[in-house]
Amino acid sequence: MPALFNTYNRFNISVAEAEGAKVTDMNGKTYLDFGAGIGVNNLGHRHPTVQEAVQGQLDKYWHVSNLYHVPLQEDVAETLVKNSAGDYVFFCNSGAEANEAAIKLARKATGKTKIITCKQSFHGRTMATMSATGQEKIQTGFGPLLPSFEYVPFNDFEAVKNAIDADTGAIMLEVIQGEGGVIVGDPSFLKEVEQLCKDNGLLLIVDEIQTGIGRTAKPFGYQHFDISPDVITVAKGLGNGLPVGAMIAKAKYYDILGPGSHGTTFGGNPLAMAAAKAVLGIVFQDEFMKAVEVKATYLHEQLQLKLGQLPFVSEIRGKGLMIGIECKEDVSSIVTSLIEKGLLVLNAGPSVIRLLPPLIVTEQEIDLAVQLIAETIQGN
Ligand SMILES: Cc1ncc(COP(=O)(O)O)c(C=O)c1O
Repeated sequence: MPALFNTYNRFNISVAEAEGAKVTDMNGKTYLDFGAGIGVNNLGHRHPTVQEAVQGQLDKYWHVSNLYHVPLQEDVAETLVKNSAGDYVFFCNSGAEANEAAIKLARKATGKTKIITCKQSFHGRTMATMSATGQEKIQTGFGPLLPSFEYVPFNDFEAVKNAIDADTGAIMLEVIQGEGGVIVGDPSFLKEVEQLCKDNGLLLIVDEIQTGIGRTAKPFGYQHFDISPDVITVAKGLGNGLPVGAMIAKAKYYDILGPGSHGTTFGGNPLAMAAAKAVLGIVFQDEFMKAVEVKATYLHEQLQLKLGQLPFVSEIRGKGLMIGIECKEDVSSIVTSLIEKGLLVLNAGPSVIRLLPPLIVTEQEIDLAVQLIAETIQGN
């Protein structure tokens, strides 16, 4: 038994190497990767431009303290703010840390402690982000939780409105709930929540850790919904596999986080920044986003065509290359069987097969994946 905590139910695969959308295990068996490390390797494994950027940085320096200027951080921040509603960036190392920063910012900016989040949300596993997460199973055994989070049903505007009280400072949500089952936000709900935040002086925090960095065929998922969040958090796809997270916030919050108020040793690490700069240089290009849109449309069409009528499947939903196939029963045996057949997929809750292929996936790879999923569901 390895000397590791048993915190993951691991599949019996030991990865030897990976390239593009392909992963090869120690036995030489290859897999088509439609999970991309839970939405991390958006440009596929070892994308040559990202690899070259990181290798170049390895030859310069690996780490310096945030007590000095790191020009790569400034480059990445500039690209993030140019392509989003935010103006300033704080770099950290993970999604949970980006959300921690957002929670701290909201508290200090408003002087209020309560943050409204949604049931079935997922915001991380640190004390604050676990407390923000609207799923009991994530919290069991770790209480007492951080107080002042109130969970309301996703897409239920009246519930959000009724949850606001004098101590409420922010509303935090995913525009598409990822871990919760690939549940797409209702456009009118998101618009109304944005207005509610404006009317009540609340921060609108959008957790883009899974939906951001091109995953939904736009730089950020919220850009499908004509809203302008005060705070956006990203991680996963930003470093394409190097650990990095970021909180992006509007200019009016600039003074809230002054010197010494927040920080982390590794935040904005130069290797991660070299990767992020290369990633954004590709993903945020209009032509790249358009190509993702074309692939996503094709994948959605093929899934509808081959799975839409199967009695086991109740709904196929999502945006861009973030897709949930809601089934009528538990999907764990289907996920296992697909992996055995060489297709890495994820689940999102017990009854949803989740697909997060790399954004560089080809039509041929899409055809193969759809065929394997259809066959496996039919043979179930
Ligand atoms: C929407 C969302 N928020 C936060 C997190 C936590 O990110 P991390 O695991 O990098 O801490 C995740 C991870 O799955 C996520 O999907």
